[in-house]
Amino acid sequence: MKISVIGGGNVGATCALMIVQQKLGDVVLVDIVEGMPQGKALDVAEAAPVNRYESHILGTNKYEDIAGADIVVVTAGLPRKPGMTRMDLLQKNAEIVTHAAEHIKKLAPKSIIVMITNPLDVMTYVAWKVSGFPKQRVVGMAGVLDSTRYRHFISLEMKIAMEDIHAMVLGGHGDTMVPLPRYSTVSGIPLTQLLSTETIARLVDRTRKGGTEIVNLLKTGSAYYAPAASAVQMVEAIVRDSRRLLPASAYLEGEFGLKEVFAGVPVIIGKNGVEKIVEIELTVDEKEALRKSAADVSEGIADWKKITGN
Ligand code: APR
Repeated sequence: MKISVIGGGNVGATCALMIVQQKLGDVVLVDIVEGMPQGKALDVAEAAPVNRYESHILGTNKYEDIAGADIVVVTAGLPRKPGMTRMDLLQKNAEIVTHAAEHIKKLAPKSIIVMITNPLDVMTYVAWKVSGFPKQRVVGMAGVLDSTRYRHFISLEMKIAMEDIHAMVLGGHGDTMVPLPRYSTVSGIPLTQLLSTETIARLVDRTRKGGTEIVNLLKTGSAYYAPAASAVQMVEAIVRDSRRLLPASAYLEGEFGLKEVFAGVPVIIGKNGVEKIVEIELTVDEKEALRKSAADVSEGIADWKKITGN
């Protein structure tokens, strides 16, 4: 397996490290900053004798090196800077993702794209549109991250092993995420039977603000260990064809009553990317929350179309 990671910043480099540590394949780490991906790749490679991984890792400034990749993880982008509007960020990152997607289309036409760059669902749409890939081969990472944060907070609250906690979070990343406590369980027992409504609401709120909590602590930069681990879990599901059922951003054509938009929904991930979207029953309130979340994404897509004339 050849796995390319576009963007060698915090999330990209951590993804690269985790991919080789988990022996998922060889990695090509691409960034525009001269020397940086080469330096990070060498650093990861130098840990191999101690960490005992054998995969090859290449750091490069040339997109050509992604040729023939099976999976491309896209983390390239700018963080939001003071004074930058949401629209500015969307425009700038859409340019970067467009640049990446054009190269992926040309150089790795059979690959599966795993998008991480924010605003996630809109960037996943841009990558899908620009690459011209079938919808199964473009998927965004957000729900796994929101779920893993939520699972961590539930585990802390209940003092129960994290591996026994399963959580389903739909919708967009962050503010508009739609946690589903009814479908979140501790060893099969619905969370709603184990925690009060107030406690669940508190944990949901912390999860919703999970990214901001870390930004405030770090002062510079944003989270990268949990985002990278979440993306690599999706990469693993593709590489091992394990058909994990995970929340991820997928292109919807009528599922959940939503159309022409990427949104976080339960999907089965395997060797072909999104093998299936699993439509689950939602209450009126949950449906409405998902609709609102998708409407935000549609607005972003419309903004991008306006800017680019697509
Ligand atoms: N091609 C390749 N790399 C690029 C390009 C490009 N056209 N443009 C920018 N980059 C690189 C930058 O040089 C930088 O090294 O993308 C990298 C982004 O890294 P960081 O700034 O460290 O950001 P990071 O924390 O890794 O987050 C990346 O993931 O979670 C999301 O919101 C986050 O959108 C952001 C992305």
